[in-house]
Amino acid sequence: MVYGPSVIRVCISNDFNNEDKSFAVIQQPIELVYKESANEIEITTSTLILRITKSPLRFNFYTADGKALSEDDKRFGTNWQDSKVVNYRKLYPDEKFIGLGEKTGNLDRRGCNYVNWNTDAALHGVNDDPLYKTFPFFIGLHSGLTYGLFFDNTHKSYFDFGATTDEEMSWFGADGGDMNYYFFSAQSIREILADYTWLTGRMEMPPLWSLGYQQCRWSYMSTDEVLGIAKKFRDKQIPADVMYCDIDYMDGFKIFTWNKETFPDPKGMIDELKEMGFKLVTIVDPGIKIEDGYQQYDEGIANNYFATYPNGELYVASVWPGRCHFPDFINDEVKEWWGKAFTALTEPGVAGFWNDMNEPAAWGQNIPSMVKFGDNYMPEIRNVYGMEMAKGTYDGVRKLLGNTRPFVLTRAAYAGTQRYSAVWTGDNAATDEHLLLGQRLVNSLGLTGMSMIGVDIGGFMGNPTPQLMVRWNSLGVYTPMFRNHAAQGMVMREPWEWGKENEAIIKKDIEQRYKLLPYIYSGFYQSTQTGLPLSRTLAIDHADDENVFDVKFQNQFMFGDWILVAPVISTELFAGVYLPKGEWYRLSSQQKFEGNQFLIADAPLTDLPVFIKEGAIIPMQHIIQNTNEQGDGILELHIWNGKEASEFVYYEDDGTSYNYQKGSYYKRVISFDPQERLIKLLEVEGDYVSKYSIIQFKLHGFGSDVHLADVMMNGKEIVNIPY
Ligand code: GLC
Repeated sequence: MVYGPSVIRVCISNDFNNEDKSFAVIQQPIELVYKESANEIEITTSTLILRITKSPLRFNFYTADGKALSEDDKRFGTNWQDSKVVNYRKLYPDEKFIGLGEKTGNLDRRGCNYVNWNTDAALHGVNDDPLYKTFPFFIGLHSGLTYGLFFDNTHKSYFDFGATTDEEMSWFGADGGDMNYYFFSAQSIREILADYTWLTGRMEMPPLWSLGYQQCRWSYMSTDEVLGIAKKFRDKQIPADVMYCDIDYMDGFKIFTWNKETFPDPKGMIDELKEMGFKLVTIVDPGIKIEDGYQQYDEGIANNYFATYPNGELYVASVWPGRCHFPDFINDEVKEWWGKAFTALTEPGVAGFWNDMNEPAAWGQNIPSMVKFGDNYMPEIRNVYGMEMAKGTYDGVRKLLGNTRPFVLTRAAYAGTQRYSAVWTGDNAATDEHLLLGQRLVNSLGLTGMSMIGVDIGGFMGNPTPQLMVRWNSLGVYTPMFRNHAAQGMVMREPWEWGKENEAIIKKDIEQRYKLLPYIYSGFYQSTQTGLPLSRTLAIDHADDENVFDVKFQNQFMFGDWILVAPVISTELFAGVYLPKGEWYRLSSQQKFEGNQFLIADAPLTDLPVFIKEGAIIPMQHIIQNTNEQGDGILELHIWNGKEASEFVYYEDDGTSYNYQKGSYYKRVISFDPQERLIKLLEVEGDYVSKYSIIQFKLHGFGSDVHLADVMMNGKEIVNIPY
């Protein structure tokens, strides 16, 4: 089936009675035009040729000018063993593979294999697989060509990039279901991501507050503790936007309840937080405690909303609340019921909804295969359970909050989750190896349509050294979701727990995050429009540069269009950095470097190696204490000199409502042309009045004699600024 000129679906089934349902795909195919001969079918679009031989049945993809993009292995093609289905593909000598989302290992996945089976990977090591999420989508690179392949099959699935086939072929498959994949033929990673996120959806604008600093812990145990921590941020003038309540806010871990002793007046607490400019996020897990008289239990039983054994008995497993039943989130009626229950949280004013343990997790982990959710058995739905819980949550709170944007965060996910929720990478550890792994996971998740991604800054399990805490926090500034979180029993993690000197560094770094918010927000706008993530592996724009795949440099990433970040562990004070082609400026010193070279960069704990690309246009603001603050109305427009023309799409809206979908936004292309010696602010699109009144130019690398006058922000017409 053809979905577009560069998106084709292949579905080979041995059971055409299978329901053709996708949790991920939101588009419909267009009319199929093909040529058929005795042994061949050919489908041609403007960019792609798919040649299907009938006997043996093989699917081979070519560019419009006939270059082989990806071909079935001549001998095996697609094969079944019992219910297991596998597609064997030709492996090209120079082929690299990137993607699959939350997977450990190197950026280039060649020579490795992976399993998708959403798992509560508590205490995972830096090489463990599988983790919490399933994104069966990868991008192949060979012979100067690119393609993408999304295997839309929710069963336990397997990807082998030449690991166990003696480098003869690659293969992917699943324990059940169809050989059902989408092939993407665009010739750049950016376009493949645009096509993939066209097919599976893009994120909405996140609430602005969720981009501020988030403080979490398992758990702040009482109202006093939550308010005390929030107040301390304000007293110390360390910017922050979000406080969390982990499982202990509940009564006996019963979802949608509050502990009456420790959180007697949730609304009162949340009002006080609001006064201080904080939002509250609370956790929910899927497991519903078995307890007569508990509303969710009673309603779930009365309506048959829980998972069962094949004989109809209810499935029971233990999680935090003790013995539990599990809602059938695959069923829309159950999702709706679940969504409505959030009134217990939205009424007192909770703004964000953290979905945890939704792999689903149960003590002992291996939920038996015969457990049924409606008509579906566990093996088929496990990988989508978390996404469907997040969908139920999102749809529910969307209704309850009216025109206010919710923030949903989920641990388990499947392709398409970006439509409903942010994700974080689960229970990492307080080690340098996890700091680096976390960045690779973020970079790789970015190749799957996810952009709002967090890592437990500081490490969930274990206690970081002060150096690691400081270092990780400095990387958190450049992490899409910036959340500090720690497990029960770990030392307190707040910025002031690390000694005066370190507190000062942490504060300065958090302030840097707040200065960058106009840039970050515009970066998320780009994600909503193009599917490009905020944190981008260098491979996205430099797929032909071998050095970006070098294990020494593979953790580096672009944060938005212009900022290159080189993660460094806490025990090293120098870092080997690779700068791709172009010219670069070290942010802290403004020192200029030629690209296409390696360098040893100073990396004291006060200064993570961060480089700005020539031609960069980066809007910043002055420090505010939280995103609710109006600020001083000044937007600083930082521009770094460069040889080529560049542009940046500045985007702003009210940060909280859906009015932007009705035209209430401020969007403006800002361009820089060194040949013409001209900076241009193009016409403003949208009817939102910016919260900034003045644009101040901050030029870097232009020479000390170049100064530009301020410009009014809210004039709508083109402004030409020669220099
Ligand atoms: C899980 C989550 C963790 C949370 C804990 C208690 O381990 O991954 O983030 O703090 O449960 O709810």
